Amino acid sequence: MKVGFIGTGTMGSLLVEALIASGALESDQITISNRTFSKAQALADRYPGLQAEASNARAAYGKDIVFLCIKPHEFKKVVDDISSVIRPEQLLVSITSPVLLSHLEEVLPCKVAKVIPSITNQVWSGASLCIYGSRIQSGDKERLESLLAFISEPLQIDEAYTRVVSDLSSCGPAFISCLLEQFVDAAVEETGIDRAEALKVASAMLLGTGLLLTEGGLTPADVQARVAVPGGITAQALKLLRRETDDVFNRLIRTTHAKFHEDVAKVSVSFYGEEVNGQ
Ligand SMILES: NC(=O)c1ccc[n+]([C@@H]2O[C@H](COP(=O)([O-])OP(=O)(O)OC[C@H]3O[C@@H](n4cnc5c(N)ncnc54)[C@H](OP(=O)(O)O)[C@@H]3O)[C@@H](O)[C@H]2O)c1
Repeated sequence: MKVGFIGTGTMGSLLVEALIASGALESDQITISNRTFSKAQALADRYPGLQAEASNARAAYGKDIVFLCIKPHEFKKVVDDISSVIRPEQLLVSITSPVLLSHLEEVLPCKVAKVIPSITNQVWSGASLCIYGSRIQSGDKERLESLLAFISEPLQIDEAYTRVVSDLSSCGPAFISCLLEQFVDAAVEETGIDRAEALKVASAMLLGTGLLLTEGGLTPADVQARVAVPGGITAQALKLLRRETDDVFNRLIRTTHAKFHEDVAKVSVSFYGEEVNGQ
């Protein structure tokens, strides 16, 4: 299998590195391109056999799978760059939520999928959210998911829920890290504990909680019930936590969705020159 990556920023590099390190791909199966060519070349220099190309068309040409690891407003330019070389049998994978499958299917003849990765894929963990276009066959799904399974748990998602599952899976590590950081900062401020020690304890707790929720078969409610004995310290603190956080995640989800709809509208304008379906 030959795989192309267009865009070697945070996520493009992460995917290339994780797929090689996990044994999913050999370096010589991969071709990359990036707007700033020197960054692609620097990545290629670290993996003998990995090919860096100065043009996006050359990175896409003849590849079985082509990952587009660029931001939404960069799509139209890249799609224009590769449209003359893309063939119907190729599988194009966007990793960006506001670029709709229809945007890509309307302008390219190939099979199209969206895969929303997560920074957790760097440690071969977390999900890959897979959203499939109309030309995808079951064999394409198997090929893509067997690759992603080396670094993640591939989960098939309905495009209608793209944004909210991206919030949970891709933005989630940042949200939870923000809460954990506040927890640790407060521990330092309130008690004078060494910051590094508090962070080590809290990070081990987060890993263990994740394992309880996945391999341990517990729900979040189970974990709370097991830890918070009635009348105990945790129960009292949980009351405060629930009161103070209240609808914060509703507002968070409304915020991400408002920005998402803005981005979809901008991408639509870049593809069609006008807004489509009110998006
Ligand atoms: N970060 C995450 O955790 C995460 C998770 C899931 C999905 N995503 C999505 O993944 C996408 C990429 O995110 P990122 O964090 O990797 O962004 P990033 O670090 O800014 O990387 C984007 C890369 O695209 C390159 N690029 C821009 N225009 C190009 C063009 N015309 N041709 C070739 N390469 C081009 C940029 O090159 P330069 O070196 O010239 O800037 C840059 O290296 C975003 O849409 C984001 O929403 C991110």
